[in-house]
Amino acid sequence: MLAPAGEDAAVLATLWWWMLGGAVVLWLLLNGAFFYVTRIGQRKLSRAWAEGIIVGGGVVFPAIVLAALLTFGLGLMPDMRAPGDALRVHVQGEQWWWRVHYETPEGTVVSANEVRLPAGARSEIVLTAGRVIHSFWVPALGGKMDLIPGRVNRTSYRPTEPGTYRGQCAEFCGEAHAQMAFETVVMEPDDFAAWLAAEAAPARPPEGVEARRGAEVFRAEGCGACHAIRGTEARGRVGPDLTHVGSRVSLSALLPNDEAGFARWIVHTDRVKPGVRMPSYPHIPASDLAALAAYMEGLQ
Ligand code: CUA
Repeated sequence: MLAPAGEDAAVLATLWWWMLGGAVVLWLLLNGAFFYVTRIGQRKLSRAWAEGIIVGGGVVFPAIVLAALLTFGLGLMPDMRAPGDALRVHVQGEQWWWRVHYETPEGTVVSANEVRLPAGARSEIVLTAGRVIHSFWVPALGGKMDLIPGRVNRTSYRPTEPGTYRGQCAEFCGEAHAQMAFETVVMEPDDFAAWLAAEAAPARPPEGVEARRGAEVFRAEGCGACHAIRGTEARGRVGPDLTHVGSRVSLSALLPNDEAGFARWIVHTDRVKPGVRMPSYPHIPASDLAALAAYMEGLQ
């Protein structure tokens, strides 16, 4: 958060540095007063001085400092909730992953566990939750906002620097709260438009013997009951959409997006995300696992 890559994070970083500076000044003043009082304490502090320190240092001074900080902080808030001029992204917190929908003139583009935003424009992020409260936070881009079941909250980010920034659930939501991470990819507007068009397209058919066999394993294991791969018969909505899972930067910012990462996830879901609803498949034959991983990796 102290290396801002967006307008909102830059404002927050400024606020943070002012608070740190203020705290250092207060600390020095308090300790100065403490030493002064203890030094001359032997000669007895006059009653007027003692009352002055208590009322001035304990009531008046904090009231002024806190009122100034509150005014400054409230002044920042309307901008952070300003509606976007670029894009509206819907993010729903699930246990423990992120359902991500992009609003486009042609319809909704479904994705998961990764948020992509165009640089240089303000995008509105509409936040809802499945069963429990979560909090959406990309420290490099802006502040936190809670996702609350039955409510619609909004925040907006205006990223300025293209790059990949880690996002994190910032409200305790159960066993795998700490693992409820995601990547945020800020792209040049043209690159973003090309990516969004690719994300909207149905999945490419598997290429190669291994990936085709992986698609068979996916069907046979019933993965499509929970996961959707657009363009195939897999239409589950319980878990993340996998249509272009192979093109994401990583797997939930937890595992590398490669065949080893997919294999690790499928065999040990419970160790990667304790308490996750997806069962682990420790007994899946190694050849089936490799084929499945190749199929996932090929879903570009
Ligand atoms: Cu979701 Cu913590």
